[in-house]
Amino acid sequence: MKVCIVGAGSLGSLLAAYLVKGGVTVGVLTRGPQAAAGKSCAVEVRRVFSNDSFHVENITNLGNMKEISDYDLIFLAVKAFDVLSVVKKMHDDNIIDPARHVMCLIQNGLGIEDSVRFYFPRVPILRASTTNGALLEQPGVVKHTGSGETFLGFWDAEKHAGWETMLDALRDSLVSAGLHAELASNMRQKVWEKAIVNAGINPVGAIFKVPNGRILEIGSLKSISDKLVGEAMAVARKGKFIEKFDGFSAVKKVIEATAANRNSMLQDIEKGRKTEIDFINGAISRAGIELHITTPWNDALVAIIHGLEATCGV
Ligand code: PAF
Repeated sequence: MKVCIVGAGSLGSLLAAYLVKGGVTVGVLTRGPQAAAGKSCAVEVRRVFSNDSFHVENITNLGNMKEISDYDLIFLAVKAFDVLSVVKKMHDDNIIDPARHVMCLIQNGLGIEDSVRFYFPRVPILRASTTNGALLEQPGVVKHTGSGETFLGFWDAEKHAGWETMLDALRDSLVSAGLHAELASNMRQKVWEKAIVNAGINPVGAIFKVPNGRILEIGSLKSISDKLVGEAMAVARKGKFIEKFDGFSAVKKVIEATAANRNSMLQDIEKGRKTEIDFINGAISRAGIELHITTPWNDALVAIIHGLEATCGV
């Protein structure tokens, strides 16, 4: 199995490194500075939670999008708001063969699969959801700031026949490299569960500029997080998007496992980049409107994050 990772930010670089460590042939396509580094690149992973590091080499640096055709599994590790333009380009350049390729999405947030489905109705979509925390210190050096869980599974049950072996191999290589990875048959639910967790952590950390752990320690931050999660849970329950899921304990568990992490939304704000707020709290507010559930806390935090984006140079 050959895996191509599109987007070598924090999560893309972390994933590339663990896959290579697990014996997979990996290529990356990125617009970042490492794109100019030549035909192969290396990644160093510094693990904060176990105070050690590892280094992998021989990651092929793809020169352009056309080279993706040579790979079997295409991991889109770009931000949620970039997925549509990336898949449009793949479509316009005729790069994807539905008989050969599987597309995997690993972003935070809701509704991202629709962009892939719009351009590629027949390509199997694999969904990954992870609570690992990562921070790209510089191109090729990623800090693994929180050891979380990764769930993998196909998005549409009827489209996965024949691809199970590939999915098993993917899980096995991540596990052998030291990640906690599991297959899940209910990825739609897992993605909602993760969105609820992100809704309760990401904007709070981003607004108050604190690592995840502080949200549990500072009473007022914890109560804002609880309000966001309570609304998200009400929407998800009414829409039957989740079953037997306790969002409050899930947020606590993820915060404890990633206490040192500056969440991805905070990293975006600090780097003057657009955030994924519209796919997280924004998507929860929109689902609330459809289901006639009010979500004032989520609406307010979406507006504040948009304000921060506007004032931090986006
Ligand atoms: O977006 C993030 O940063 C991550 O999804 C998580 C798990 C909240 C850790 O910070």
